[in-house]
Amino acid sequence: MEKIGEIKRINGSLIIAEGLKGVKIGDIAYVGDLKLIGEVVRISGREVALQCYEDTSGLRPGEHVISTGTPLVAELGPGLIGGIFDGLERSELELWKKAGPFIKKGYRVIPLNREKKWYFKPGVKPGDRVVEGDIVGVVRESKVVEHRVLVPVGINGVVENIEEGEFRVDEPVAEVRLPNGVKREIKLMQTWPVRIPRPYKERLPLAQPLFTGQRVIDTFFPIAKGGTAAIPGGFGTGKTITLHSIAKWSDADIVIYVGCGERGNEMADILTHFPELEDPRTGEKLIERAIFIANVSNLPVSAREASIYMGITIAEYYRDQGYDVGIIVDSTSRWAEALRDLSGRLEELPAEEGYPAYLAERIAEFYERAGRVVTLGSGRRIGSVTIMGAVSPPGGDFSEPVTSTTMRFVGALWALDTELAFRRHFPAINWLRSFSRYVDVLREFWERYDPNWFRLREEALRLLEESSRLEEIARVIGEKALPDEQRLILLVSEILKEGFLVQSAFHEVDRYCPPEKQVRMLRAIMEFYRRASELIKLGVPVERIRGLKNLVELLRLKEKKGLEEIDEAEKRLIEEMEELKAEYSR
Ligand SMILES: Nc1ncnc2c1ncn2[C@@H]1O[C@H](COP(=O)(O)OP(=O)(O)O)[C@@H](O)[C@H]1O
Ligand SMILES: [Mg+2]
Repeated sequence: MEKIGEIKRINGSLIIAEGLKGVKIGDIAYVGDLKLIGEVVRISGREVALQCYEDTSGLRPGEHVISTGTPLVAELGPGLIGGIFDGLERSELELWKKAGPFIKKGYRVIPLNREKKWYFKPGVKPGDRVVEGDIVGVVRESKVVEHRVLVPVGINGVVENIEEGEFRVDEPVAEVRLPNGVKREIKLMQTWPVRIPRPYKERLPLAQPLFTGQRVIDTFFPIAKGGTAAIPGGFGTGKTITLHSIAKWSDADIVIYVGCGERGNEMADILTHFPELEDPRTGEKLIERAIFIANVSNLPVSAREASIYMGITIAEYYRDQGYDVGIIVDSTSRWAEALRDLSGRLEELPAEEGYPAYLAERIAEFYERAGRVVTLGSGRRIGSVTIMGAVSPPGGDFSEPVTSTTMRFVGALWALDTELAFRRHFPAINWLRSFSRYVDVLREFWERYDPNWFRLREEALRLLEESSRLEEIARVIGEKALPDEQRLILLVSEILKEGFLVQSAFHEVDRYCPPEKQVRMLRAIMEFYRRASELIKLGVPVERIRGLKNLVELLRLKEKKGLEEIDEAEKRLIEEMEELKAEYSR
């Protein structure tokens, strides 16, 4: 089998080589004298097309292409947490230290540090029988993450020896004898081809929320652990801020943040600021339970294509250890553009707006890697991967292919709205265009806080819908021409928007809203509506209700620290309403 070929043509990131025999689609090859990383994307006759993940300028026809015979793999093991990697899992920090911001081409950096020693504590002993996916021991990977060392897929047998102590990632910590007598080493690290989903035993129904602390999401358009959500929005509508809030506040054990180059400086910003982010959950830095994949360097678009698979593979690996992992991609549109770019260079027949016909398939395949599963291994270990992806439609037009396709495959949609963002209603999530298919499965969780949660939520949404209809009418005939019960709906929906939906990511208290507080706030506002409707029936003019001096309390519930403070504020308002009622009942 000939592993060495020769460059024939160069078209941007696409390289056409000849002479490579026996290569497969997906194989990684080193391209040219600089040994740039390329992946085989098409084989036709003698010609092999490679997608190159590095800047190809300077390459010349005639230079060699060397196939490695292996696909693009992720290195998985301790040392990932706290890391900032590029789409090929090269440590950005190491690259930065070695080469500065303008990374020299073909720079080889091994993903996992080979020097560092980790203290390994065995969880099994010689003579124990182990199967693929079993935990053989643990390593403290960061202040908050315990790394569970897994028996790699394909190994089932009896532990021959296993040792406690300090190990490098590529040193054997244990040996397993297979039924056929062959011995296999287990190391702290293993590898996995990124384009193939890691196996599990069983897919489970979703049952728990991935709680984000953002009211409009958790209360109205919640996401379940193991679920998927997309957050489409035009430039400046708040995709990044919302995803940052989720990274910081959600109750995922581990966060994987894939930054697919929105703006150049944004990524450089991440590199300097990300290690500084506080983790409100643990009191440590967020980076103690997070991994960053960002193309901060001058890598071409094609590298973004790889980064999303690198991210999801690492997410699955921590899922397999029994963790709830949240993976955030900002933005999937950049990834789709990389697909389009490659497809164009391959001269494939384009479908809508130049995207390849397989765009939908690729998007679906990616989101299908989310889920809540019983992992491999004996026993019943459960882990999950929740995917949240930003989509950046050009001009904010949701009918464009990437947005409209993504909307078909996700379980929740947080539709950002330019108009709301313009009015500084943040998060600018449009409550009429967003959806969540997880409400029913999460109902039980919420009704532990309040048995009426489902009904209150439905009522609030109905009220918001009704009010947008009434606003249209009011624009024509004037608000005052509406009957009082309709004017009340407008008043309550204003309170819902200002007092509940609007939540500043920068407010000391309000940036995170715990579940019991979300439920309590919703109940207070809806209780106000119930009592106010009664007053209207008694003949109280809506102006009198609007004029209640304690009404403003409802707008300030979000700033309250404890539930007692909310109780007290509500009590003051109710007392005032009781007085009004007495006045009109006489
Ligand atoms: N939840 C929020 N709270 C307060 N301000 C917000 C919020 N979301 C967005 N913003 C404002 O909107 C601006 C743009 O948000 P950003 O996330 O960068 O947009 P995008 O990523 O969609 O281009 C931010 O700089 C901030 O001022
Ligand atoms: Mg952004």
